[in-house]
Amino acid sequence: MRIVIGSDHGGIHLKETVKKVLHELGMEVADVGCDGTDSVDYPDYAQPVAEKVAQGEFDRGILICGTGIGMSIAANKVKGIRCAVVSDEYSARMSREHNQANVLALGERVVGPGLAENIVRIWLTTEFADGRHHRRVDKIAALEGK
Ligand code: RB5
Repeated sequence: MRIVIGSDHGGIHLKETVKKVLHELGMEVADVGCDGTDSVDYPDYAQPVAEKVAQGEFDRGILICGTGIGMSIAANKVKGIRCAVVSDEYSARMSREHNQANVLALGERVVGPGLAENIVRIWLTTEFADGRHHRRVDKIAALEGK
């Protein structure tokens, strides 16, 4: 699976942990930045990740900031993106089974590295349940045209 990942300064340390997990899982990983702890603006990293997933250049995206919230708000502005902020294992599974989330947002100031690793592993290995959930995801897509 091809994964594109990005963070702001608030997510830079957790991003390195997550990248290690992704490599262990044999994923192809591209990092759009940021590259240091200087203060940056999270939409500047949410945008390329979201666009690369929406355009099919990558299968999934992972965004990390302090809370995951700003990244998810920004990513969800891009057509075709269903970004879920996740801070527990159950939501990680449900965001895939029910919502077919294609971008995962994590908060470095919210989840520790061990929990983040579990969330990422679950999120990458859980399939969309389809059925009635397909209709609901289609209705989300219809909202984008309004
Ligand atoms: C940066 O201080 C912080 O606001 C950002 O990382 C993120 O948490 C925003 O949602």
